[in-house]
Amino acid sequence: MGVRPIVLYPDPILRQRCRPVEQFDAGLRRLASEMVETVHAAPGLGLAAPQVGSDLRLFVVDLSVGEDPSALHVLVNPVLVAESGCQVDAEGCLSIPGITERVARPAEVRFAARDLDGLPFELAGSGLLARALCHELDHLDGVLFVDRLRGLRRELAHRRLRRLFGTPRGLPAMAAPRAEAPQLGQ
Ligand code: NI
Repeated sequence: MGVRPIVLYPDPILRQRCRPVEQFDAGLRRLASEMVETVHAAPGLGLAAPQVGSDLRLFVVDLSVGEDPSALHVLVNPVLVAESGCQVDAEGCLSIPGITERVARPAEVRFAARDLDGLPFELAGSGLLARALCHELDHLDGVLFVDRLRGLRRELAHRRLRRLFGTPRGLPAMAAPRAEAPQLGQ
């Protein structure tokens, strides 16, 4: 148990497509528990397994940042089964500290997933919860929020990424500086 270092852009693990969880065992429980501790410590609203160096399809979301146990959601092998509407709002990522951008996401979503015992469940969300769930699902497919930008805003964001983080090979994956807007980090 413990807080794990958060993998930073441009670490290649953030670009991997993660593999489905097949073993619902103690190792999975430990990983999930460490992810919860890590996202609470950051602090952030959500964290996906590749952000702590794992390539499993698993993420955690907690909009209360540890204040309300009922707000903590752990989704294993999540699938987006329904979406509707559109919302545009500011978004950040714990793996890309210092950058926030307005990103379009579905206004309402419904996810199907497994819990840590392998039991199926569904989770519906709107607003910020829908945004967080979609952001974390993207991580499991190697997609980052800056990839969701279009046109000039996408170009400017990638220019800032190069300025902040250098070329995609130069940087160590550890020692995260604090995010400018940690309450938005996911
Ligand atoms: Ni993120």
